[in-house]
Amino acid sequence: MSKVNAVVRLSEIKKSYRRGPEEVRALDGVTLELKKGEVVALVGPSGSGKTTLLNILAGWEDPDSGTIEYSSAPGTHPGNLPWRDIAILPQSLGLIDEMNVRENVELAARLPEGPGVGAVKERIDGLLGVLGLAGFQDRPPSEISIGEQQRTALARALSLSPQLLLADEPSGHQDAAWAEGVFRAIRAAAKQGTSCLVATHNEELLQFVDRIVGIRDGHLVDVEHPGLRPPEELAAEVVAAAESEQPMEPAPDHSPFRSVVEPVEEETQVAPAVKLHPGDDEGDDDLRSKFGPAT
Ligand SMILES: Nc1ncnc2c1ncn2[C@@H]1O[C@H](COP(=O)(O)OP(=O)(O)O)[C@@H](O)[C@H]1O
Ligand SMILES: [Mg+2]
Repeated sequence: MSKVNAVVRLSEIKKSYRRGPEEVRALDGVTLELKKGEVVALVGPSGSGKTTLLNILAGWEDPDSGTIEYSSAPGTHPGNLPWRDIAILPQSLGLIDEMNVRENVELAARLPEGPGVGAVKERIDGLLGVLGLAGFQDRPPSEISIGEQQRTALARALSLSPQLLLADEPSGHQDAAWAEGVFRAIRAAAKQGTSCLVATHNEELLQFVDRIVGIRDGHLVDVEHPGLRPPEELAAEVVAAAESEQPMEPAPDHSPFRSVVEPVEEETQVAPAVKLHPGDDEGDDDLRSKFGPAT
């Protein structure tokens, strides 16, 4: 791997599916590198190949051609890497209804190769708190809302502070406040070193990511970061403000620098300010009408 801090590198990945007589090219030569601790949004319309790319990174599907290499285990099939290396929040969530919310979040710790529940108790308490699940931890997933279930699956994915988080539309079932809460939790994990690849439709949340990778018909395309101000512009502003002793203009709400300038220090500060009431999780119609249906 060329760069020391690259967690994974995909090179020229191709994947096609057969649909009757037709061949669908889900991925058509994808090359991508993810660095330690960065949050990358994977943005594209329905059917553009987002889930296929995440599945290949997870080792759930094999590419037809191309290479995938994790720096922690060169030569190892990604499907054989432990939860500490790759953790997945799939669109289907995959919660186990025979276990309560807390036990679901503890799943990776409880696996034979896992560290055991005691070793991650504090972290899991923190994640349940930050993601608004502490009050439901004794309930089975079927007795909480779909939004709460999705946050349970995120807490489970982050339970062992993985090297890489693969999250497929993690705010797809959240209302606006919790969508932000989900992205803040992802940012907090990145700050602790987890690289995050997040398939998303939600343009408002792109302010929380470091980099945006667009995908169209299985090809990666450049997407400009909305509101991104070049570092030199910010630096010049800092110097000018110091010289004039005027208070600096705060970063605009849409600026990704807001999350850099005002980093989330503790997981406990990550919870969204808005208190939700039952049923709120179903209320993301606004976002859906704006950005199209989740896929
Ligand atoms: N198992 C499959 N069999 C046939 N076609 C598939 C399969 N999985 C995905 N596809 C097709 O591959 C393309 C990319 O799908 P997907 O990766 O799910 O896109 P996205 O997640 O961006 O909506 C779509 O045309 C989809 O219909
Ligand atoms: Mg998808």
